[in-house]
Amino acid sequence: MSSYNIALNFEDGVTRFVECKAGEKVLDAAFRAKINLPMDCSDGVCGTCKCRAESGRYDLGDEYIEDALSDGEKQSGLVLTCQMVPQSDCVIAVPASSTACKTAQSRFAATVANVEPHNDAAVVLELNVAGAAPVFLAGQYVNIDVPGSGQHRSYSFSSAPGETNVRFLIKKIPGGTMSTWLESARPGERVEMTGPLGSFYLRAVQRPLLFLAGGTGLAPFLSMLEVLARDRSQQQIHLIYGATRDLDLVQVEAIEAYGARLPNFTFGTVVADPTSTHPRKGWVTQHIPAQCLNDGDVDVYLCGPPPMVDAVRGYFDEHGITPHSFHYEKFTPNAAAVAV
Ligand code: FES
Repeated sequence: MSSYNIALNFEDGVTRFVECKAGEKVLDAAFRAKINLPMDCSDGVCGTCKCRAESGRYDLGDEYIEDALSDGEKQSGLVLTCQMVPQSDCVIAVPASSTACKTAQSRFAATVANVEPHNDAAVVLELNVAGAAPVFLAGQYVNIDVPGSGQHRSYSFSSAPGETNVRFLIKKIPGGTMSTWLESARPGERVEMTGPLGSFYLRAVQRPLLFLAGGTGLAPFLSMLEVLARDRSQQQIHLIYGATRDLDLVQVEAIEAYGARLPNFTFGTVVADPTSTHPRKGWVTQHIPAQCLNDGDVDVYLCGPPPMVDAVRGYFDEHGITPHSFHYEKFTPNAAAVAV
C-alpha cells in the first residue's frame, strides 16, 4: 500500500481525513492538506504536537526526547504527530478545535434515493452522494439541511463508510421539520449536508463490545456492525436494543442478519411499554447479561436519549463496574447529538 487514510478528529467533533504517503509523517501529511495541526519544533522536542492515536499501527521512531513524550504516554496511546509514521489507516484525536487548526467540516451534495417508512416510528432515508463516497467513521453523524426550512438536523449514518448511497434511520415526529419534509420527499430531490461529525465512533476492537441502543439510537450501531462484519471480527459483541413501544423496534431483521456474519454476535430487544407482550420489558439496564460485562474488561458504546445515558451510568456505579471504556452519544429529537 502506498498511502494510508488518516482520520483527524478535532475536539469540536469535526473530522477531516488526510492521505498519508508511505513513510510520511502525519504532521506533514496534514500540512499538505492545509490543516495546521498543533506544532512548534517539528523535531520531537517540545511535545506541542501530542495527540492520541485511537486506532491503527504506526512507528514513532527514536528521535524524540522523553520530555516531549514519555514511555508511559507512549504506552497509553499518545503520539507526536511530527514523528508518527503510519503503517495502516489510523484515527487520531486532536486536542484542538478544527478552527484552531484552520480547517472546517466538509459539505456534501446528495439526492434522495429512497424513503422507506417503518411502522409509524421511523423512516430510513437513503441518499446518493454525488461523486466519491463520503468518508466517515462508523458511528459518526452529519447535519442534514432540511430542504426549504433553513434548518438542519443531526443524524448518524446507519450505513457503513465506503458507499455512495448512505442511509439514516430517522425517528418520525408528528409535525417535526424533517418528518414533515420526508412525507413529500421524492427520489432525485437535492439535499445538502455537512460533516462528518462526532467523537462517538468505533475504536480499535481489542476486547468484548457491549452496544446499548435506545430507539433510533440504533443507527450508529448498524454502521458499526457492518464494519465489524466486513472485518470478519471474531470478538464477542452483544447489542441491547431498547424501544418505548413494540412498533418502535425497527430493522430487527437487519440486526438478526449479522448473526450469520459475526460468529460471536448476540442481541436482545427490550420494550418499555408495560402493556407490551414482548418477552423482555422495562429498561436496557434490566437486561444486561452479567457475562457481557466481562468483569469490566469491555468497551461499552451507548446511543440513546439523555435519561438512558444517565440510567446506564447509574447502573455501572451501583454495580461497582468500571468498563475499560464507555463511549456514549446523547440525542434528543430536533437537537444535535452530544458525543463523549
Ligand atoms: Fe515539537 Fe512535535 S512539534 S515535538
